[in-house]
Order: sequence, then structure tokens, then C-alpha cells
Amino acid sequence: MLLPYNTVYQRSIENPEEFWGEAAEKLHWFKKWNSVLDTTNPPFFRWFAGGVTNTCYNALDRHVDEGRGNETAIIYDSPVTNQKQRYTFREFRDIVSLFAGALQSRGVRKGDRVIIYMPMIPEAVVAMLACARIGAIHSVVFGGFASHELAVRIDDCKPKVIISASCGIEHSKIIDYKRLLDFAIELAHFKPEICIIKQREQLKAELNEDRDLTWQQSLLGAEPAQCVPMEATDPLYILYTSGTTGQPKGIVRDNGGHMVALKWSMEHVYNVKPGEVFWAASDVGWVVGHSYIVYAPLLHGCTSIIFEGKPVGTPDPGTFWRIVSEYNVSVLFTAPTAFRAIKKEDPNGLFIKNYDLSGFRTLFLAGERADPDTVKWAEQKLSVPVVDHWWQTETGWAIAANCQGIEPGPTKYGSASRAVPVYNVKVVNQEMEELSPGQMGDIVVKLPLPPGTMLSLWKADNRFVESYMTRYPGYYQTSDAGFIEEDGYIHIMSRTDDIINVAGHRLSTGSIEAELCEHPDVAESAVIGVADDLKGEVPLGFLVLKSGVDTPHSQIIKHVVEYVRENIGPVASFKNAIIVDRLPKTRSGKTLRATMRKIANCDEYVMPATIDDPAILDEIKIALQTIGYAKQKKQNR
Ligand code: COA
Ligand code: AMP
Repeated sequence: MLLPYNTVYQRSIENPEEFWGEAAEKLHWFKKWNSVLDTTNPPFFRWFAGGVTNTCYNALDRHVDEGRGNETAIIYDSPVTNQKQRYTFREFRDIVSLFAGALQSRGVRKGDRVIIYMPMIPEAVVAMLACARIGAIHSVVFGGFASHELAVRIDDCKPKVIISASCGIEHSKIIDYKRLLDFAIELAHFKPEICIIKQREQLKAELNEDRDLTWQQSLLGAEPAQCVPMEATDPLYILYTSGTTGQPKGIVRDNGGHMVALKWSMEHVYNVKPGEVFWAASDVGWVVGHSYIVYAPLLHGCTSIIFEGKPVGTPDPGTFWRIVSEYNVSVLFTAPTAFRAIKKEDPNGLFIKNYDLSGFRTLFLAGERADPDTVKWAEQKLSVPVVDHWWQTETGWAIAANCQGIEPGPTKYGSASRAVPVYNVKVVNQEMEELSPGQMGDIVVKLPLPPGTMLSLWKADNRFVESYMTRYPGYYQTSDAGFIEEDGYIHIMSRTDDIINVAGHRLSTGSIEAELCEHPDVAESAVIGVADDLKGEVPLGFLVLKSGVDTPHSQIIKHVVEYVRENIGPVASFKNAIIVDRLPKTRSGKTLRATMRKIANCDEYVMPATIDDPAILDEIKIALQTIGYAKQKKQNR
């Protein structure tokens, strides 16, 4: 019998310490906490201060010690290499503890940083958990980022060791990870002592004898490592995410609060039980992968799937249904863009009919607003509840969701449902006045944030306070805008900063603009996100050239597209730019990106009162129309 939402929510807000203290009892602690919530140094709130635990112990060893060692922890399914492999909790614990021992034997200790730059193979998860086991702080960098982005992260977190692979496989393309890694290390000022490379048979990497070891070599002579006791408040990982500047933000997550929140979410948000199969079809390089491929399912004793493939093309749009059926997946979590890709190739859901999906219970979507059309299509074709839920790298788990383990409310298309218990969400105006239901404004969350959310930014406490905690004192500024209905349903409509969302991936327009300005002929640039049927949004560049430039425009555009791909990575999906005479600006010189975006997408806009020269907007509209934008509003966006 599920408890009513209002009862759980009220309790969580009125007595968070009792609420979370109870949730924490379900995990193993070497030593109990002194206080559930330490509020002595706001906005640096600390959960379970004084508690001593180990996240890897709770994710693996605990299940073995409790007699569930022979149950499946991890399934690796790779349609791109035709491999499938199952690991029990006992097997995975043994693999992880041996690799953890290998890291220790190379001098990796508690607090050292380890970068993981890997495709979706089991070794990526082994590396993460091995770090957690010995108290090293992992920082996973998504494989779709190119060398320059990796170098920025190397310089910021200064890893003792980098763990990578010789290659990744994207559809049928082989991506030479080692080449990208070598170049990143060349670009970075900081140099790691050791690189451990998983050699894959599709492409063997050349090793640098003074620095590189193969995965196998690293294990020679290693002894399994025990779990190192960690303070609940010690960092578990750093995950970089786009900020509004070119410098990414290193989100730092703790050990104690993180494991408590994630385990609670498995039961209450996702309504899964230990022993069931939970599949997050994402990548370990993103927060969804950290939380729901690796930590949450294992902490809860579920089976998790590492899928090395795509929703379409590996080999067809039935792959997801093959996996759900073959492994009896109870809950699937992915991004709406994956469903748009499937729907495009299999609009009538014919592939779905080939598989027995009787064990499949719920589909969760996140990463971008789930457009009503996609949600309705999925509901109709799959006959299961489709739950859009809203969260961010900063929070590490859902802020709003139709919690399936608490009495769920009705589905409302376009809304991420109500606040998850313990998140006190409000919509405010610039003067910080709370707005009435239905009114659009900035979305904020009252402090303290729940456990599992960020501790701070890596070595950048001031940036943490300035970016998130200063604009609305006492609240976390989410940088999302939207409204809340009378009944508490939250609608997330857009970002309030210069972040765009491409296929569920978060990108800074500022960092793309910086690349465009690297071109010798470019005087100035602007990047906006334009609506895209598949990826939700894709970046589009505007270039103002230096005077006297006579290079053909097509050549300049080709070069800047290559720059972005080479320096930020293919994941940016930057494919096009337009050359214009000037950019629309305010009188104080700020580029009016939001207005340009509205013109491109045919959304209504109000002429900004501070615009310097309104005529420029007409020029921008004409330029956009020459490449097919600013003509017709896209449906359902
Ligand atoms: N390593 C190297 N390159 C990568 C990569 C990785 N891990 N992931 C993506 N890329 C490359 C792709 O090969 C592609 O390169 P291309 O320009 O040469 O074709 C480019 O980055 C863009 O990738 P992607 O956005 O994945 O586009 P796609 O066209 O290959 O696939 C979708 C489209 C919708 C199928 C895909 O974006 C998808 O599955 N999205 C799910 C989103 C998701 O998991 N989000 C995480 C938050 S839940
Ligand atoms: P990331 O940090 O990469 O997870 O991206 C977080 C951002 O993605 C949020 O700030 C939102 O702008 C957007 N986002 C994620 N999930 C949703 C959702 N369910 N609805 C609307 N926007 C979302």
C-alpha cells in the first residue's frame, strides 16, 4: 500500500533529519553519524557528518555478505561488438577489489584524483567502483568530448592516474580514444603519472613505455583491496558539467548523503525492488549514468545494464525492446531524444511487437523536457506509465517526478509532475517574490538541499556560492525557468542562462563561441540553440567577419565546424553557421541570444526595450530564413 504523496512530502519538509536518518539505516556504516544534517556553515550544508562508510562496500560487498552474492549485479550487452556478459555481485566485487588493489599498488591513495575516459564497457564501472573502494576521487569524462575538453578537466582536477581504452565504437565507427587521450595530455599543463589502457581488439593502442600500462599489466602482482573507511562527507567523485563560461563546473558529490539519497530514490521514485533489473540507457560520462547505471541500482541490490549501443542503428530500432525482453527489465530510464529517434524509424512501433515486454513496468524520461507527442507515442505503444522527471548534474537525482513508490498522481503532458519529497521548490520573480500558480519565473529550491546534491565545486567554493547561492539568498538557483500549477505540478520551460540541451547533453554556447572566434577571419560570434526534431535543440552559429576578409564564406563555415568538432567534440553536433553583418545587442553591449533563438524557432517575442538597433533583428530573420529557420514553428516543442 503506497503512502499518499502529501503525507510523505509534508513529513520530509517538516522533519528532514528524521526522514533521512531513517533512510540511512538501510545502509551499512562503519560508524554512525554525529548529526544527520550539519547546518553550521551555510550554504555548505553537510549530511551525516561524523558517519564513516564506504560506497563500494554498500554497492557490492554488502550484498555478498547478506547472502545475495550469486545474484546478477551487472549485464554487459554490446551489439556493436556482439558481446554479452553477466557478472554476479561476488564476481564483480572480486574484479573491483583486484583492480582497486592494482591502483593502490601504483600509489593511488584516499583523496587522489583518477580520470576515467572510457566507452561503455564493464571496465568503466569497475574503475569507478575501484576508486570508491580505496577513497580515490573519480572524474569520468564523456567519450564524446574531444582532447581540449579533456585537457581542461585534467588541468582542473590534476589526476594521478587516467584510465582509458584503446577505442570506442559508435555505430560502426571506431573512435581512437588513445589518440584523443595522448593529445589531451600534450595540451594539458598537468601530467598524470600513469595511464591504464584497456586494449580492445577492434583497435590496439600504442603505449608510451614511461607512462602507460595495459589493464592486464596493471593487475600483475596486485592483491585485492579492502574497502577504505570514508567520512560520509568525503568526496566520492567530481563530474564536470557545462557552466556559462568555457570553464566547466566540477560538481563534487559526497559518499554518505549520495548513497542514502540514491537508495531512497530507487524505492520511492522508481518503485523497484532489490533483485529487479533496472536499465538506464545513458552513458557513464553523464550524471544519469553515474547515478542510475552505477550507484543507485547496485546500492539497492538491483541488476544494472551496461549497454554499448544506440537506440537506433545497432542494428535497428528494436534494440531497446530486445534488451528489455531478454533481461526482463522492470524499469527503463532514458532521454526523450532516444525515443524520438526510435519513433522516427519505427513510427508504428512494429519492432515492439517482436518482443515479450510483459515484465516491463515503467518508462522514465529525463535530460530535457519530454515533449507531449513523444510521451503519448510511448504510452500508446508500450502501455506502461511514462514518467518525465526533472533533474540536473548539480542535484544528482530527481527534483520533480511523479514518484511511483509513493501514491502517483495523474500524468500531465509537458509537466515533470510534483516536487520530489524533501525538495522545497518555488517560482520567484527577479525581486525574489514567490509567484502565483501558473506564473512564469525563476525556479529555486529552498536550502538546505537534500542529501546527494553537490557539496561544492572542485576547489572553487567561491564560484559555487556565486553561481548558485547568491542571486536568491537562502535558495539554490536552478537556472531553469518555468511555472507551478495550483496542484503543485511543475513545468520546466527553459534555461535562464546560456546553456543549451542537445540530445539530452548539456552544452555551453559560450564555449562554442570561443571556438568560433579562434578563426582568424571571425571578429565576433554568437551561438543559439535552434529547435531540432531529433535532438531537441542543436547549436547554430552566427559569425561577424573582420573587415576586408575575402575568404569564401563556405570555407569559413566549414573550418569553424571542424574547429568545434576537434576541440569540443562531436557531441556538440555543431553543423552550421551563418555569416551576418552585425549581431543584435542591448545598449550595454549584451548579445540578444534569447531573442535570436525565438526568431529562429518562430516563437513569440517582445522587442527588448534596451535594444540598440531594432533593424538588426530583421536582418537576422532574413539570414535565418536563407537556411530554413524563422519560417514555421515546429510542432509540440
Ligand atoms: N564517444 C565518442 N563519440 C561519441 C560518443 C562517445 N561516447 N557519443 C556520441 N559520440 C559522437 C557520435 O558518434 C556522433 O558523431 P558524428 O557527428 O560523427 O555522427 C556525435 O557524437 C553526436 O552523437 P549523438 O548526439 O549521440 O548523436 P547520434 O546521431 O549518434 O545519435 C541519438 C542520436 C538520439 C540516438 C543519441 O543522441 C542518443 O541515444 N541519445 C540518448 C541521450 C542520452 O543518453 N542522454 C544522456 C542523458 S539521459
Ligand atoms: P544536466 O545537468 O546535463 O542533467 O542538465 C540539466 C538540465 O537539463 C536542467 O537544468 C534542465 O534545463 C534540463 N532538464 C533535465 N531534465 C528535464 C526535464 N525532465 N524537463 C525539462 N528540462 C529538463
